[in-house]
Amino acid sequence: MEENILEKEKLTTDEIEETIRPQNLQEYIGQKEITDNLKVFIQAAKIRNESLDHVLLYGPPGLGKTTLAHIIANELGVGIKTASGPSIEKSGDLAAVLSNLESGDVLFIDEIHRMPKYIEEILYPAMEDFELDIVINNDGHSRNIKIDLPPFTLVGATTRAGDISSPLRDRFGIISKLNYYSVEELIEIVLRTSRVLGMDISKQAAKEIGSRCRRTPRIANRLYKRVRDFALVKELKTIDYDTTIDSLKKLKVDKNGLDAIDIEYLNAIIIKFNGGPVGIETIATSIGEEVTTIEDVVEPFLLQEGFIKRTPRGRVATEKSYNHLNIPYQN
Ligand SMILES: Nc1ncnc2c1ncn2[C@@H]1O[C@H](COP(=O)(O)OP(=O)(O)OP(=O)(O)O)[C@@H](O)[C@H]1O
Ligand SMILES: [Mg+2]
Repeated sequence: MEENILEKEKLTTDEIEETIRPQNLQEYIGQKEITDNLKVFIQAAKIRNESLDHVLLYGPPGLGKTTLAHIIANELGVGIKTASGPSIEKSGDLAAVLSNLESGDVLFIDEIHRMPKYIEEILYPAMEDFELDIVINNDGHSRNIKIDLPPFTLVGATTRAGDISSPLRDRFGIISKLNYYSVEELIEIVLRTSRVLGMDISKQAAKEIGSRCRRTPRIANRLYKRVRDFALVKELKTIDYDTTIDSLKKLKVDKNGLDAIDIEYLNAIIIKFNGGPVGIETIATSIGEEVTTIEDVVEPFLLQEGFIKRTPRGRVATEKSYNHLNIPYQN
């Protein structure tokens, strides 16, 4: 019984996620360089009546890689099948996915850097020649057989381009790096989400969320939804500036958008390790977080905003961090 309620709850959250996800390039805000190029490549593929070249999307979490993969399929007018790197364990798993593709389909593989090496090797001929090479074991005799696949487009997504082997990377014809969004773009995303979910927000309030969401659409949407909760309980018709400021304070999101983990991370470097340099494993242990979380989620934003620097001997907190935490800077 309880499980059912949870299932239902989850479904509705997923449904909300789906409604706020842009469906086509027109609705996709920002990343203009990428979308402008994609428009051309998609149009050209359609004119030639061929499948689109394979696409690799990389960048920090929540910037819109999965969204873009679905949009590519929509714009091409083809189906999409999805898989995730770590879930493809056996060669048969990949063979099953590949042989289910229809001509022109998009195969989206999320976290493609976590795909086992031997699976990767099956992917090479599939990407290059639309061919599946498999080994069949029959009464102790094994033989190789080749199966033709329909032409398809592999869209791979990863937060770590550096972890992708070069033979795999070389087989992508289009490689795009998603960047952090500008505040203006994030305001537009918040306003769009507010239209889709049907609860108005003032421009000033949207600006506050846009500047405090670590330049990430997923976080902008999350903050919008939480602030909306506060406004709803206050019986407001429009989410206003004061409620937004107040809610963000309760959510422990500071002026620069740094959250509790960011602050803990910076405090560790500055206070426990004298500002660094200190190795990432040491920081991770001292704040009880996974190294991968720190590398993929925490650090990219702090680096981009100049709160830390990476040196060969480890991470160093910059003067900006000291100022932010109100700690006197000593070099
Ligand atoms: N360009 C955009 N315009 C509007 N909304 C966006 C945009 N990009 C992302 N979003 C919103 O942000 C949310 C997160 O995006 P998405 O799931 O595509 O990120 P991701 O890069 O795949 O993250 P992860 O690396 O964690 O898988 C989406 O649900 C979508 O609503
Ligand atoms: Mg994703």
